Amino acid sequence: MKYLIANWKAQMNQESITSWLNKFTSIIRTDTSVMSVLDQKLTLIICPPAPYLEFVKNSLKQLPIKTGAQSISHYPEGKYTGEVTAKMAKEFVSYAIIGHSERRRYLHETNEDIQDKIEQCRIHHIEPVLCVRNEDDTIYDDVTIVAYEPVEAIGTGQNAEAEEVIEMKKQLNIGRNTAFLYGGSADETNIEDYLKTGEVDGFLVGTASLDPEKFYLMVKKMSKEQG
Ligand code: PGA
Repeated sequence: MKYLIANWKAQMNQESITSWLNKFTSIIRTDTSVMSVLDQKLTLIICPPAPYLEFVKNSLKQLPIKTGAQSISHYPEGKYTGEVTAKMAKEFVSYAIIGHSERRRYLHETNEDIQDKIEQCRIHHIEPVLCVRNEDDTIYDDVTIVAYEPVEAIGTGQNAEAEEVIEMKKQLNIGRNTAFLYGGSADETNIEDYLKTGEVDGFLVGTASLDPEKFYLMVKKMSKEQG
């Protein structure tokens, strides 16, 4: 299985999300070659900001497209103002991005928090997508989707070279049954470089996912790889 994940971060609003969904779904609906691989060989996951999860999920109801959370609380539930728990998110998502470097950096997420989040995901049947910055970040045994995201490549337009990504995959010792994704300025112009190595199972996409046409081109390229 290949994966393409849109991470909108703390961007977009009701109006821009509505317009994104209208554009994206109208293009994808009519593309039978893309539609035939979705959920079969390619899992497409949209991760909007939490307040829009229900809206996005409902809007995509008729399509083989999944929703994911950008994070979940490391607490199970309780008096933790502002937190969105896995128990709540599970109504709207099948996946959750865990340990994104922006959260490690700006929200001071620790390895312990990340472990607790993975545990919460497990309890509530949410599949964690664990982000790692380099070989120093722990990959927990039961995680089956890992996204390597070198910090200098995120949001900079400076995507990492495919060889460097493959090298890191070796160092990370990714198991055979673990999907290995790349993230960091991945877009419709560069994903083939990674795909043709046969070592990269998909992408976690920030900036390029905000544009429905660019994101569709990424889906299209990935579906061709599958065809
Ligand atoms: P980017 O973000 O595609 O804008 O580099 C990727 C990410 O942070 O997941």
